[in-house]
Amino acid sequence: VQNLSIIGLQWGDEGKGKIVDYFADEFDGVSRYNGGSNAGHTIVIGNRTYVFHLLPSGLLKGKRLFIGPGVVLDPIILKEELELAKKEGIKFDLLVDGRCTLVTPLEREMDAILETLRGDKALGTTKRGIGPAYAMRALRVIPRVMDLISGNYNLTFAKKFYSLFKKDLPDLGDWITESEEVLHDRVGDVSKSILEMNESQKWVIFEGAQGVLLDLIYGTYPYVTGAHTLANYIPASLGLPAKSVGIVMGVVKAYTTRVGNGPFPTELHGGLAEAIRTSGKEYGATTRRPRRIGWLDLVALKYSIKINGVEEIALTKLDILTKIKEMKVCTSYLLNGEEMTDFSTALPKIGEASPVYSEFPSFWGVELTSSKLPRVVDSFLEYLENELKVTIKLVSIGEDREETVERT
Ligand code: IMO
Ligand code: MG
Repeated sequence: VQNLSIIGLQWGDEGKGKIVDYFADEFDGVSRYNGGSNAGHTIVIGNRTYVFHLLPSGLLKGKRLFIGPGVVLDPIILKEELELAKKEGIKFDLLVDGRCTLVTPLEREMDAILETLRGDKALGTTKRGIGPAYAMRALRVIPRVMDLISGNYNLTFAKKFYSLFKKDLPDLGDWITESEEVLHDRVGDVSKSILEMNESQKWVIFEGAQGVLLDLIYGTYPYVTGAHTLANYIPASLGLPAKSVGIVMGVVKAYTTRVGNGPFPTELHGGLAEAIRTSGKEYGATTRRPRRIGWLDLVALKYSIKINGVEEIALTKLDILTKIKEMKVCTSYLLNGEEMTDFSTALPKIGEASPVYSEFPSFWGVELTSSKLPRVVDSFLEYLENELKVTIKLVSIGEDREETVERT
């Protein structure tokens, strides 16, 4: 056994939360390592739906939970989630790394101001202060969690800095008190804890947020998030040796969605998009925005798979394809009259790429059960495995935890 890294290979919302929850039984802990409360990870058990933004998805399996140093942490959102979990009677043990970057109301304000300044070029961020928090980390403006707890910080510089953007700054007094309260008993050294666990043969799931195409450097810049989403970033952002990344499992939705702005070659409009959106409940778990919908894009996926060295995939939301009458997959792009299969070559002009599709027998009305997948589905999965050169380990055929098929 070893650690398991679970990352999204598209533009987020691939179903990472469900997959983490599914595998959590076999592990001793689950750790977040990137992003912040921009993530929205959903787990469905029976008639209950749980959405978490900061708490790792191992909490419903009673695993040790970690928020690693690379996360930008909004203590007020964490407080809300802790209260919700308490109300639900969910018990867990959470350790927050002292090196986490804090997200204060100032970064949230700044996120909104920057979006307004961008006008019709707005990124469509979640307005959770993620980009500004990472920027403030790089500029060394904001104290970290450990500085807040030790009382060894001064906000004078931060306030001067923010006054460049905004004249009437909110008073942070209450925020500081509240944040200290939430974090006080939960702060420690996540890197050290995970290293110690690994040394005694205890293994951890690293729960990715966002997706590869939203990576700050390797995604569809500038329409990306403020952090890194590649598997390589996991050990770096957790302070672990590179080999700790363990198995890298990519999560892929059987079609594509995107929230916020930016290029999306296989995007659909009209009735079909609406039908998928409705069946797939494709509304943002963090912002409630309707997600943009499109067919599966193999050009983009091959890129995500290649740059992450992904060998295993969990394919989610296959059941949604049984509710539509068409079935298409994008196999190349047309760009300036030229056919292209290489995403990184197309990337500088990706906004102008038009998709070339292969059609497949539709899954319309096909019944999916956990015991055996129908032939039409199996041959599609085999096609994907051949094209993408991966193993599809797991298939999700419904939103419930139980509706998951392991392929052998
Ligand atoms: P999970 O973990 C989907 C998108 C936003 C926006 C862009 C930048 O649930 O997959 P940000 O607030 O991060 O600066 O916004 O990134 N985005 C996500 N889209 N799923 C997510 O997380 C996302 N987190 C950020 O919609 O387009
Ligand atoms: Mg989500």
